[in-house]
Amino acid sequence: MMLSRMPDRTRARQLAAEYIAKGDPTGWFERLYREADEGKSIVPWAELRPSPNLLNFWRDQPIPSAGKTAVTVGCGLGDDAEQLAEWGFATTAFDVSESAIQSCRSRFLDSRVEYVAADLLQPPDSWFRAFDFVLESNTLQVLPPELRARAMENAAGFVAEDGRLLVIARARDENDPRGEMPWPLTRRELNHFTEIGLRELSFEDFLDSEDPPVRRFRALYANGVE
Ligand SMILES: C[S@@+](CC[C@H](N)C(=O)[O-])C[C@H]1O[C@@H](n2cnc3c(N)ncnc32)[C@H](O)[C@@H]1O
Repeated sequence: MMLSRMPDRTRARQLAAEYIAKGDPTGWFERLYREADEGKSIVPWAELRPSPNLLNFWRDQPIPSAGKTAVTVGCGLGDDAEQLAEWGFATTAFDVSESAIQSCRSRFLDSRVEYVAADLLQPPDSWFRAFDFVLESNTLQVLPPELRARAMENAAGFVAEDGRLLVIARARDENDPRGEMPWPLTRRELNHFTEIGLRELSFEDFLDSEDPPVRRFRALYANGVE
């Protein structure tokens, strides 16, 4: 697979536009990963390391992991999922792209993570309230805005009683242009998590360590009363 340090999003944007126009807004991910496997494209978000935005968060507010379950939404090539397993969670990780999941399995041959091809928009019923920690990093922003509420409801549905959901996403103000894929989220969009019953424990609006820096939201939610 060809990977990029200087992400060129041209092909990803082309495919996103093509698949969305034909009414298949998640079909382009498999196509992009397959093209990357064949050395014809790159996966612009594949950095082959755990997200610094996850690591920084954990350094300041680690979440108990002993005997706990976790799931990584839209896990890509698996680095964040491996990190969660390393921290001690019994970890499941899923992606809509079968090729991405195959790459995770072949990259991490002795992994303790269970890698599954699944769609956040139609997840298995057995995942409802099944995870003590849910990580959603950068998947909502690659879904068209009209699909995000459903995606958020399903991600929130994974969180066990007293569990936590950590969301990391590109950020914009309401008046900012929508931009190109990956389309940043607004604070109002993210508030859907509290509208559907999660409790916001922390919310950050910050510039990350990328070059150039990217504005992001990072929010931690809880399921259940204090
Ligand atoms: C921008 S990448 C982020 C990957 C990784 N989470 C990260 O932060 O680097 C979004 C990932 O979500 C996956 N994805 C997109 N829509 C999905 C869906 N409906 N269900 C599951 N995975 C999805 C894509 O295949 C892709 O791997």
